[in-house]
Amino acid sequence: MRLDIVKYGEPVLETVARPVTDFGKELAQLVDNMFETMYFAKGVGLAAPQVNMSWRLTVIDVSSGQDPNDKLVLVNPQIVKLEGSQVGEEGCLSIPGFREQVKRAGKAIVRAQNVKGEFFDVTGEELLARAMQHEIDHLNGVLFIQHLSLLKRDLIKRKIKKLQKAGEWT
Ligand code: NI
Repeated sequence: MRLDIVKYGEPVLETVARPVTDFGKELAQLVDNMFETMYFAKGVGLAAPQVNMSWRLTVIDVSSGQDPNDKLVLVNPQIVKLEGSQVGEEGCLSIPGFREQVKRAGKAIVRAQNVKGEFFDVTGEELLARAMQHEIDHLNGVLFIQHLSLLKRDLIKRKIKKLQKAGEWT
């Protein structure tokens, strides 16, 4: 089942999400729904707060559904190590229509639990490293525009306000 993606302005997007403690059927169902929602929206990552669920959970697929091996579920993820840097274009399904260059670590090592609650480590570079950092930010109530200069961020916020006033940001 597809879920509604909440957009910038909703408080849940700027709230620190709660750890997942229940690894039952409901979590597995939510993960399935999040993948379906992400693929439909043509994203490479989706965090639970983006579907109005304030839990520390994110799904990622840097192949956009082309390679089942790239399907990644991170429950209660923690960044273990960041290395190097990369600059690249980034967007967010909760801030549609805006893409900006964002500086991130080039390599990220993350420890997380899977949908059954088992711990594992994942090492990502390039797009996977970027996606993991972007999605884990979401779990801490941080959006990619917070990595931009104040000037760029204010410009985007003003444009969004205009869209909100025009009723084009729902
Ligand atoms: Ni995002």
